[in-house]
Amino acid sequence: MLRIARAIDPSGDYRIVPGDNFNGLDAGTFDLVLSAFTFDNIPATMKARIFRDLGKQLMPSGTIVSIVSSPEIYTHEWTSFTTKDFPENAAAGSGDVVHIIVTDHQDRRPVEDILWTDESYRAVYREANLQVVQVFQPLAKDNEPYAWVSETNIPPWTIYVLRRAT
Ligand SMILES: C[S@@+](CC[C@H](N)C(=O)[O-])C[C@H]1O[C@@H](n2cnc3c(N)ncnc32)[C@H](O)[C@@H]1O
Repeated sequence: MLRIARAIDPSGDYRIVPGDNFNGLDAGTFDLVLSAFTFDNIPATMKARIFRDLGKQLMPSGTIVSIVSSPEIYTHEWTSFTTKDFPENAAAGSGDVVHIIVTDHQDRRPVEDILWTDESYRAVYREANLQVVQVFQPLAKDNEPYAWVSETNIPPWTIYVLRRAT
């Protein structure tokens, strides 16, 4: 991925971070941190610490965009995800493992995610000294060229826009 990114954008600075250790980066210097679905797989006990460490990377006016799966994704059918084989997902609470299959990959093995509710995300953001500035739950539109299943009625993903609280 880094090789391809550098080939497409030679002026960019692309680096791999070892796990969730940000010590090699210049803390306090980033305008924007984008986390796309990472926290779907990060256990409950680690979330607040990693968000706090991400917050420390921001300059005071910086923003974190945290895209996560909504709990509803694990109990509905979607154009490119299925959960019907996992009725136990409906009983899962924050921190529990849930299963989902991505149907537009060749690899149909169930993915193990960690369910985490909006209330729980807000609690870890508070614990991590982050303030929620905006929340988006976009829906798909009927006029789009896709055979949407639940996407026009139920938002599968939640986007939190976060700033340092102090
Ligand atoms: C659902 S994937 C999302 C990948 C990519 N951001 C995307 O949108 O396609 C979740 C990612 O979180 C990473 N991840 C899980 N735990 C992590 C941790 N403690 N530190 C860093 N990355 C982690 C996994 O390796 C995986 O690549």
